[in-house]
Amino acid sequence: LKNIQRLELPAAADMHVHLRQGELMDLVVPTIRSGGVDTVFVMPNLIPPLTSVEKVLEYRNQLQAIAKDVNFLMSLYLHPSVTPEVISQAAAAGIAGVKLYPQGVTTNSESGVSNIAAFYDTFSAMEKHDIVLNIHGEVLESLAPAGTTLEEAFLPTLKTLHERFPKLRIVLEHCTTAAAVEAVKACGPTVGATITAHHLYLTEAEACCDPLAFCKPIPKKPTDRDALVQTVVSGDPKFFFGSDSAPHPLSSKTSSATKTPPAGVYTQPFATQLVLLAVEEALARGVLGESDVTQHALEGFLSRHGRRFYGLPEEAERRVVLERRGEKIPGSVRSGDGGVEVGISRAGAEVFSL
Ligand code: NCD
Ligand code: DOR
Ligand code: ZN
Ligand code: ZN
Repeated sequence: LKNIQRLELPAAADMHVHLRQGELMDLVVPTIRSGGVDTVFVMPNLIPPLTSVEKVLEYRNQLQAIAKDVNFLMSLYLHPSVTPEVISQAAAAGIAGVKLYPQGVTTNSESGVSNIAAFYDTFSAMEKHDIVLNIHGEVLESLAPAGTTLEEAFLPTLKTLHERFPKLRIVLEHCTTAAAVEAVKACGPTVGATITAHHLYLTEAEACCDPLAFCKPIPKKPTDRDALVQTVVSGDPKFFFGSDSAPHPLSSKTSSATKTPPAGVYTQPFATQLVLLAVEEALARGVLGESDVTQHALEGFLSRHGRRFYGLPEEAERRVVLERRGEKIPGSVRSGDGGVEVGISRAGAEVFSL
């Protein structure tokens, strides 16, 4: 990458995004294409969460009205109201997935799941209708053994679900540890995982103390970060891009030095560019050699693998051209009337222009 001035890629498929509601939605949806992305899988953790087919379709219409040239894949929020009957309606309506949030682990997860076994009938219906189960794979802090990350403590549950529902397609969302990568590889081809851009460059040392780097799952050790970058360039089709771009108003991120800021890193306007930046930084650290990075594997991670997992045509309709022009990531995006401002991850970093 070092000597590459111009890179042409298929448009990326970003299989995990938070697009919010109201003025935040109006601000962030138009930044999808700026990040080289034409297809997104949209998270349902709105207020209130999207627990009915009707609400999901209404939300899709709102998003599509803002960005006509983006392909929106939609999800339901797993909740007791998402019955096997609702799953068959969802399949008929073209909803792609159902997101499982363990109760209380992250933003707007208060209505999440406390007893996974209570949803086995719903999972059977999803298996039958080929709807994807998207998992926020963390346990509550009180449930993780000392010295085990919240993600690692969840991995046995992933294995149990896969064994019980081998044909159910499962995505372990935003995996952050070397252990999670191994757990996903150990499962059959119905199990995949998304990897964000920010977990390819952040570690706990930044996430602990910079509100704009604070997110769930918390970034881990440098060795975990490096294992994720190696997975991205490996070409393994089980792993694909899901930025987990999670905008919060800058005011809520920085309002109080004493209170924990809301979790979420906003990367959407530079999604593809930040993945490339992280790969370049891994090259500079010597974690990767130039010959470890192929355009084919990068395209697989950014575009083909996710489309394949969701049963879309593998080749993107659009291509994007990235060029080095000395562009630096700005500090924030802001709505026209100044009503809302969101800080962007890695402000000041030099990235490819698109
Ligand atoms: C390859 C990919 O998409 O990167 N995946 C795979 O199944 N090994 C397929 C390909 O070479 O296009
Ligand atoms: O950091 C995160 N932010 N992690 C999540 O799981 C949710 C997301 C959000 O919605 O803000
Ligand atoms: Zn999540
Ligand atoms: Zn998320």
